[in-house]
Amino acid sequence: MILLVGGEKGGAGKSTIGSNLAVVMAKRGIDVMLLDADPQGTASKWMARRNDASLQAIHCAQKTGEVYATAKDLAKRYELVIVDAGGRDSKELRSAMVAADMLLMPIQASIADLETLDHMSEVISMAKAMNTALAVKAVITRAPTNPIITEVADARELLADYQEIELASSIVRDRKVYRDALLEGRGVVEMDNGKARAEIQLLANEIFGEVE
Ligand SMILES: Nc1ncnc2c1ncn2[C@@H]1O[C@H](COP(=O)(O)OP(=O)(O)OP(=O)(O)O)[C@@H](O)[C@H]1O
Ligand SMILES: [Mg+2]
Repeated sequence: MILLVGGEKGGAGKSTIGSNLAVVMAKRGIDVMLLDADPQGTASKWMARRNDASLQAIHCAQKTGEVYATAKDLAKRYELVIVDAGGRDSKELRSAMVAADMLLMPIQASIADLETLDHMSEVISMAKAMNTALAVKAVITRAPTNPIITEVADARELLADYQEIELASSIVRDRKVYRDALLEGRGVVEMDNGKARAEIQLLANEIFGEVE
């Protein structure tokens, strides 16, 4: 399977979710390849820190520009290829969308993120014309942990207007442990925070199905 974690909003949490899902699935015994398709190299740098920390090894490759052939080729050799594309409309994002089985779009419940959806929806239509099997999911990320804040409910309502985008029922909340994990080359399942561990496992179950 090729899972593309992408979207047009910078800093939404794509690399965070991509690296965390890679760790969860590697721990489940899946042969994972993390393909860093962002010239910024967030995923590759995270991986370099991971290697220095001698944690469970996960394969990582870097490719920018046209990534269709690379993603397809890696999918022959790995059970799961997670593509981390940078936060803008790019050649990487568009070519990966044609190769992917699923596009996962991390979206913050903020107006700036939600405003990118109109354009993303056009890009998705174009990709689907070439890749009819492409599934598209959005996941709300960096949501406030304060239950009184209604941003998530508002975002859900807005996302309901986009029929081609299925909203994941799991939510990733804004927690410092995600920043710490990124810095340490870890996934939150390797950190001491039960809430973050649980929410990323739930998201993985929703995307890949329950394994345990
Ligand atoms: N759920 C979260 N809780 C707390 N901090 C987060 C969360 N998700 C992401 N961050 C932090 O926000 C910043 C941006 O996250 P990340 O690099 O994953 O975003 P991105 O969408 O990949 O950005 P880009 O568009 O630049 O590729 C990082 O410092 C990261 O640690
Ligand atoms: Mg990124």
